Amino acid sequence: MKVLLIGGGGREHALALGLKADPAVIELHCAPGNPGIAEVATLHTVDTASNDSIVALAKELDVDFVVIGPELPLVNGVVDELRAAGFATFGPSKAAAQLEGSKTFAKEVMNDAGVPTARSFTCTQRSEIERALDILGAPYVVKDDGLAAGKGVVVTEDRQLALNHALACKKVVIEEYLDGPEISLFGISDGKTIIAMQPAQDFKRARDNDEGPNTGGMGAYSPLPWAPTDIVEQTQREVLAPMIAEMAARGTPFVGLLYAGLSLTDHGIRVIEFNARFGDPETQVLIPRLETPLATLLYKAATRDLAGISLTWRDESAVTVVLAAEGYPDVPRTGDPITGLPDIHCVEVFHAGTNTGDSGLVSSGGRVLSVTGVGSDLTEARNCAYRGISQIKLKGSYYRNDVALNAAVAEKGN
Ligand code: AMP
Ligand code: GLY
Repeated sequence: MKVLLIGGGGREHALALGLKADPAVIELHCAPGNPGIAEVATLHTVDTASNDSIVALAKELDVDFVVIGPELPLVNGVVDELRAAGFATFGPSKAAAQLEGSKTFAKEVMNDAGVPTARSFTCTQRSEIERALDILGAPYVVKDDGLAAGKGVVVTEDRQLALNHALACKKVVIEEYLDGPEISLFGISDGKTIIAMQPAQDFKRARDNDEGPNTGGMGAYSPLPWAPTDIVEQTQREVLAPMIAEMAARGTPFVGLLYAGLSLTDHGIRVIEFNARFGDPETQVLIPRLETPLATLLYKAATRDLAGISLTWRDESAVTVVLAAEGYPDVPRTGDPITGLPDIHCVEVFHAGTNTGDSGLVSSGGRVLSVTGVGSDLTEARNCAYRGISQIKLKGSYYRNDVALNAAVAEKGN
């Protein structure tokens, strides 16, 4: 089949490699893509904020299947328009993408589906906000209701900071603080059936020891040797399956990737957030481990044909470390040359914020590259990832040194 992938980050680079490796794919196109994706797909320009632009490209290329990577076109409803134009498309409709687009909507659905999550209040007035902060107490968790590119959530002990953030949002969700390790667990859904992937853990803070500001994600690893052995089954039963059933019952079935961000608290699993797309950088550790042909799998989801499918995983561990530009996550420095990309057999370099300049590769975004190492255990995978990333030269760039460190040490101790 002829496939068009929309997006151009590290997540899409990993998806592109997975799609390309599926023998069912005869042509792979990507828009806008990036210099890394250009090695496996034909690139095209597109305005990802414009549904018309995406639909026009799919028509021009006459593709059999479209895969949408980022949240913006999903929340804009591009999938409805692609389906109306006759394209099999992997991704949720505009109505279903509201699970990511509105935190209040996600809470309502969880409530109706009986899915465990933090107690919360949705507020638009100062008096409501003050009341919610007082009832829930510190640490305060304040979330912008809408899409905010990773900057919408403030977790703080400082009531004034919490109040300021809440007042700056049009509509805000204030919720109970969840105390427990966080994991990301993705399900691939055809609207009726949802198949859980293996869990991953993301490192959201910019600096070692979870210091510094929240980011889109500075690294990830999979599998999680420390997690309860039934975590996938439990999440399937308590979170993924009821959400899919509830969305179907509402007449807005969720087709695509349902990303559950979970906190494993002493009282059980609790949903922190849903996204309506693959996570970045979790995808850069999941796809290298997934043996099941990706394009066929996603196509079956898009065409409501997932019943009876199960996933196969390589018995390997993967660790990815993000190389971030100086200034990320605030104002990243861009336009600098990138050299020293590693050529190591156990390392895959995924491009995110890169571009081709006059004399080679240059930085063009906050998260520039993500370097994935694969090995027989987390220690081996980490060693590969760090050996790879340490060879890359980009002025002012930085990365976390402790991605998967505790998990690797604990795994060795077992
Ligand atoms: P989100 O964008 O909802 O994933 O939030 C970003 C980060 O804020 C999460 O990865 C958590 O680390 C933190 N966070 C969000 N909600 C909560 C919560 N209820 N309790 C504790 N931490 C939270
Ligand atoms: N890694 C977090 C996200 O994709 O939203």
